Amino acid sequence: MNRFIKGFRFTPSNYPDEIEEKIQQYKKRGYKLPSRRLLRTPEQLAGIRESARINTALLDYLTEHIREGVSTEEIDRMVYEFTTRHGATPAPLNYEGYPKSVCVSVNEVVCHGIPSPTQILRSGDIVNVDVSTIYKGYFSDASRMFLIGDVSPEARRLVRVTRQCMEAGIAAAQPWNRLGDVGAAIQEMAESNGYSVVRELCGHGVGVRFHEDPDVDHYGRRGTGMLIVPGMTFTIEPMINMGLRNVTFDKRDGWTVRTADGMPSAQWENMILITETGNEILTY
Ligand code: MF3
Ligand code: CO
Repeated sequence: MNRFIKGFRFTPSNYPDEIEEKIQQYKKRGYKLPSRRLLRTPEQLAGIRESARINTALLDYLTEHIREGVSTEEIDRMVYEFTTRHGATPAPLNYEGYPKSVCVSVNEVVCHGIPSPTQILRSGDIVNVDVSTIYKGYFSDASRMFLIGDVSPEARRLVRVTRQCMEAGIAAAQPWNRLGDVGAAIQEMAESNGYSVVRELCGHGVGVRFHEDPDVDHYGRRGTGMLIVPGMTFTIEPMINMGLRNVTFDKRDGWTVRTADGMPSAQWENMILITETGNEILTY
């Protein structure tokens, strides 16, 4: 049998006995477990990996083209053209009525910024570009921050610490840990640096659909929440505010999320696979 060669090599219906046994023990002790459909089969995982590869290549491509003077609409066009040229579909387009192929969130916009021809990137802006790809029916999702021109030391620090928040969350996302361990790690990193964690939006299962269970909160308490089990794929995507954690939802466009105090916000996102021995970042 080759189930143990190089990480995750089994199907949920064909679990190694010791993993199955472990799951049953946790179940008896009353832990909240992911449903079986959230544990990826090798076939699903192969498709998810292909989707993630395109998604990462897209972010790399955008990295070469995003600069001062570019409109967020032009970023949208680049995303649409790159994705379709690779035989894939931008997942945001028409998702629950979302009108564009990408979310571009500048400065005080926390997430879900809608690209516009009149929004031009300016020196000093910090920008989140969030891309999600559907390929052969499989979903991937990741975002990065971009610094435009001369960015203040304060805003640079926010972007750097937010990345560290994401990394701390990924480090805590170990098999047989709990989702609360992930949230706590992120919250501690943010708050010990004087920042706050947005609570209204969360990471999520992803792969077979765009947004699946579980919700992955970016705050919380260690030793609480769903058990983290090999075979799960989910995002970790903390939104960290320089000021207060409160946000507003734009009533006109139905999407744009902003900080209530108008201070800057940053976000980094990757999707990971939980393996028997740790995790693998699928969007690097
Ligand atoms: N990409 C976002 C996420 O990280 C979801 C955006 S939904 C959209 O989950 F419709 F605005 F694209
Ligand atoms: Co996401």
